Parts: sequence; C-alpha cells; structure tokens
Amino acid sequence: MTSPMSSRAAERLRSLPPYLFARIDELKREALSKGADLIDLGIGDPDVPTPPHIVAELQRAATDAHHHRYPSYQGMIELRAAGAAHYERRWGVKLDPAREVLVLIGSKEGISHFPFAFVDPGDVVLVPDPAYPVYAIGARFAGGRVAPLPLRRERGFLPDLAAIPSDVAAAAKVIWVNYPNNPTAATAPLSFYADLVAWAREYDVIVASDNAYADIYLDESDPPPSILSVPGATDVAIEFYSLSKTYNMTGWRTAFACGNPDLVGGLGRVKTNVDSGVFEAVQRAAIAALTGDQACVAEMRRVYRERRDVLCGGLAAAGFDVVTPTATFYTLVATPPGHSSIEFAGRLLSEAHIVSTPATGFGAHGEGFVRLTFCAPVERLAEAVRRVAKLSL
Ligand SMILES: Cc1ncc(COP(=O)(O)O)c(C=O)c1O
Repeated sequence: MTSPMSSRAAERLRSLPPYLFARIDELKREALSKGADLIDLGIGDPDVPTPPHIVAELQRAATDAHHHRYPSYQGMIELRAAGAAHYERRWGVKLDPAREVLVLIGSKEGISHFPFAFVDPGDVVLVPDPAYPVYAIGARFAGGRVAPLPLRRERGFLPDLAAIPSDVAAAAKVIWVNYPNNPTAATAPLSFYADLVAWAREYDVIVASDNAYADIYLDESDPPPSILSVPGATDVAIEFYSLSKTYNMTGWRTAFACGNPDLVGGLGRVKTNVDSGVFEAVQRAAIAALTGDQACVAEMRRVYRERRDVLCGGLAAAGFDVVTPTATFYTLVATPPGHSSIEFAGRLLSEAHIVSTPATGFGAHGEGFVRLTFCAPVERLAEAVRRVAKLSL
C-alpha cells in the first residue's frame, strides 16, 4: 500500500496554518449535541435576506436564454459601468468601466488571485495582523513572503507606515489594507490613505485595498472614504469592492476590482486562465442592486446600528472592555484578565452558549480579543448580553 494521498499534498497546502477554530468547533458540536440554545456570533454573514427587487431581477434574468452561455471574462460592461457609477456617486471617483473595472466571483476570489498576477516567488507582501486570512494565504500560494504589519488598538488599528523598516519597504511588492476593517471594525481617515499613497510611491509598492465593508457604516454623517479618492491613487492602487455585505448578497458571489488599469488588467489575465466569470443573470441582479433604490442599504445600516447599541452598550454596561464600532458588523471585546483569546472564546461557548471568534484566528496581534458579530436579531443579542453578564470572569 502506498501512503495516504494527503501526505502527497503540495507544499503550499501542507504549509497552511493549522485550523485555529478546531477547538471551538469541537465545543460547538458538543454543546449542540446536548441541545444547547447556541447564539452564533461567530460568523460574518448577514442574516437578513437580499432585498426583493434584486431577487426579482435574478428571477427575470435567469429566464433569458442570452444569459445561459459563457459570460465575458471581464464581466458585462453594464455591470462594470454600474460599479464605476457607484464609485462616482459615493466617492466622486471617475473610473473607465472598460479598463478600470473587473467583475469578480466575490472579492475573496479576486483577493486570492491577485498575487498570481503581481507576486513572484520570494517577493515580500505586507499584510496587516490581525486580518482577513486570504491576503496572507493568497500571497503564500503565489510563493510570496508575508511580512506582518501589526494593527494596535492604541493606533486605532491603523498600521504604522513609518515603523516599516526601509529594507522591508524596499523589498515589498504589495501592501494590503482593509478599512472598514475585519476583525477590528476600525475605519481609516482619508489622511491615512494619502500617507499610504505617498509611501507606496516612495517605495514603489502596489497598494491593494479591500473595501468589502465600504457601505456598512453606522454613522450616517460619516461614510468611510475610499483610497481611490486620494488624488493620484490610481497610479498605485487597486481596490476590491464587494456586493456581499452592502446588499446582503454573500451567497451570490459578486464583486468587482477597480483602480489602476494595469493592476486590474493583470488580475483579469489570471482570471481568464482560471475561471469563466459570473453567471450573467447574477450580474443583472448586481446591476439592479447598484443602480436601484439605495434605501434598502440605509435601512440595513439602521438595523446594524440598533444591534450594535444593544450588544456593545449591554456588554460595556456589564463591565466589559468593548471596542465599539462605527462601521462593519463586528465588535472586539477585550479578554478578561488571565484569559487568552481562545480561553475566553471557550468559556463563552461552554458556559454561555455563545459562539465567538478568538481574534488570534486573524493573526497573533489579535491576542487579547474575541470578535463578536451582530448578524443576529436584537432579541438574541440582548439574550447574549444577559448570559455574558452572569458569567463570573
Ligand atoms: C475583509 C473581508 N474581505 C473580503 C471578504 C470576502 O467577501 P466576498 O468574497 O463575499 O466578496 C470578507 C468576507 O467576510 C471580508 O471579511
């Protein structure tokens, strides 16, 4: 007998970090098997359905046989134009739909493929820590070397560009940023992006900005900026915009990349060789989302605001140190003294039947926090607060 196939896995698969949530998953299964009433605040997946006008457009478009054939690689020009119009309306950014916008099968797809276009084996990729894991994994899959950029609470979870050693900056090919941020929920002011563009020009580094939570802001008077609104940003930057969170469309897999035409084009060339685009009926629905009435998005923000106030207000009143967000549907809660992130998450699960995510799952600098989402109704969040308040920590 030969050895099991798993031992023949490629090095890139074998070198993936261990699955940090295994212990939490085990505790979750155990609690469920005992019939526990679990409150799952672990996943960042909107619980509210996609707005009906978007669903109706998919239904209509799915019956149109024009859409049953292979889609174009770059995405329908109408969707690229709708993406460009969204950037102009939202940020005053003008984009050429033909050269500066590329449709993606969800932004995860684009984020993971981007390094295949611009990272050679051994190239340095600067990745925030903690962060959405796909930046680092995509870079490693392309053979890149990941250099972590610590995000610290005392700096508003913004990376300290001045602290990047000049030899690391000089060797860097790509820097990833993500604001509004997962998992910290921090937002970046426009001045940060202006500094970043200047830094990227100085060291000749590509800026890849993940703007998946752009429209999930909780203060209507202060919508977060896009890096592309910095003058000259399109010389150095590509941005990833997702419809997943804005329109509660996580299952639909639709997003776009935009910005520098060479960066957008390079990613497009990779994609031409590995996928065949998004079902056109889904693209039609995405057009309906981007060009239709945006009242549904404002209403969703109101829902998240109410939930944030119940969860964060309740936990703070119970004595927890909570990082109250102004964007996204995440909140970090500092671990009580004497607990690691994983221990605190374990106690929340076994004693309060609340699923959280230890922030170390997003990188070593997540230690000291668990992440809770508010993708659950207000009554469940209020119940979660009651349960946590009763814990003796
Ligand atoms: C920071 C961040 N970027 C990107 C994504 C991927 O979004 P999608 O692939 O649904 O566009 C997520 C999903 O949770 C995320 O948290």
